[in-house]
Amino acid sequence: MTIKQHKSERIADLFEIKARYLRSTNLDRDFADRRALEGYVPTDHAKAAVSRLAAGLRENSGQRAWRITGDYGSGKSSFALCLANLFGGQESTLPAQVRRIIDFRAEGIRRPFLAPVLVTGTRERVSVGVVRALHQTLTDCYKKGKKAALVQSVEKWIKHPEKITDELALDLLCQTRNKLIADGKGEGVLLIIDELGKFLEFASFHPQDQDIYFFQRLAELACRSKDQPLFVVGLLHQGFSNYADQLSQSAQREWQKVAERFEEVLFNQPLDQIATLISSALGVQVDHVPKRGRAEAHDGMQRTIDLGWFGFGASNSYLVKQSVGLYPLHATVLPILVRLFSRFGQNERSLFSFLLSNEPFGLQWFAQKPTVDTPFYRLADLYDYVRSTFGYRLAFQSYRTHWNLIESMVESFPTDNPLEVVDSTASRRAKPLTFHAKWVSRPNSNILNSRFGLTTPQRLSAPNRESRIAHVKVPAAIQG
Ligand SMILES: Nc1ncnc2c1ncn2[C@@H]1O[C@H](COP(=O)(O)OP(=O)(O)OP(=O)(O)O)[C@@H](O)[C@H]1O
Ligand SMILES: [Mg+2]
Repeated sequence: MTIKQHKSERIADLFEIKARYLRSTNLDRDFADRRALEGYVPTDHAKAAVSRLAAGLRENSGQRAWRITGDYGSGKSSFALCLANLFGGQESTLPAQVRRIIDFRAEGIRRPFLAPVLVTGTRERVSVGVVRALHQTLTDCYKKGKKAALVQSVEKWIKHPEKITDELALDLLCQTRNKLIADGKGEGVLLIIDELGKFLEFASFHPQDQDIYFFQRLAELACRSKDQPLFVVGLLHQGFSNYADQLSQSAQREWQKVAERFEEVLFNQPLDQIATLISSALGVQVDHVPKRGRAEAHDGMQRTIDLGWFGFGASNSYLVKQSVGLYPLHATVLPILVRLFSRFGQNERSLFSFLLSNEPFGLQWFAQKPTVDTPFYRLADLYDYVRSTFGYRLAFQSYRTHWNLIESMVESFPTDNPLEVVDSTASRRAKPLTFHAKWVSRPNSNILNSRFGLTTPQRLSAPNRESRIAHVKVPAAIQG
């Protein structure tokens, strides 16, 4: 490609967006799709989580009830899909990179063969969801021949969901496991409940219809399942008791006790691994990023690492290498972005939707700009996105004091581009924590100092006398 063509390119032309990131994973639907794990990126975090869970596969292990807690869109369902395949004895059908997530032999564990029972939560009784999933598993396992009595029985119950009790669901679950083992269809059952939070919401709003002790009994069954394994994994966005916040304090304590029956795996991927996923999703053709942009991406990443924004465990050289693959995201945006969606993410509004959808002030919206000046999506741009997308929520929630302050500050600035107050062009001469803030007049700088923790701007020595430097800390409300 010639340089001239580069100049007419939009940033968006640099992307080769991977289709898999455009929709959420649906556990039960995608389990039937052999291609669903193509392009899956096995992060170290996911590998460590699989190996931790694999402890429960050991003979007679008592660690068979788990909950995986992670933010919206953080990859929980995709992870569960890997798990269902890896623990379900489907390894040979998996893409090589997924197969390599765990080496059972090296872990000293016999290759598992658990029949998956996959449930996606809805706002109804969990017992009904479980019996429906049992029906699906039985239908998949017994495609031919006369229907066994158990299959007929489950079929009958799902036609009358109102009659399905917790006892019945747990009993059918055990019967199914026993039958699958007896018929050589599996060596046990892996019950995965995705979107467990929806069942918990139902239980908290309708305690008379759904007893939270269902989950305790389920965990007990799993942990005592010995040589007839029942392995249970629930996936949710927050702690059990957070779903019970409108119940009494004592009820919340009970919920907490039930939650403790499930060992917790936190599905919060470290920033460097999220950077890998972002660059995989955007598919930036790094060779087409103009040279100046590449240099700035590296430089910005190094400075942001030096600020400590990527934490201390992050691999510096890896992140710097990865930085062009994040273009046009400026490195300073990444840690804030992840915190932002961790705090305020919702269904359909997650990190990947920010990256890939056309929301105003989002990344794709920004990417309509030409590459000619290699602009970067900076904190100021993110501020606009937050303001237009979450602003109304921020103004009502417990962050309102901070948020209102930030808004009034930004609006009171005597400049056409007041947003640069929180992120201006980083000074190349100055230390990493500093940003050029030429337009910061003395009174405003004092306000900045006292309200946002910016140190008093100092005069720059020659050659740029008019400039002042403010040491910028990101406001606490954004940092979390
Ligand atoms: N490790 C990964 N490799 C490739 N794609 C991934 C990976 N993790 C997540 N994704 C993609 O990111 C998107 C979100 O993942 P997923 O639906 O699994 O997240 P989730 O945590 O279950 O989301 P939600 O909270 O909405 O249920 C999907 O498009 C999925 O394909
Ligand atoms: Mg999901």
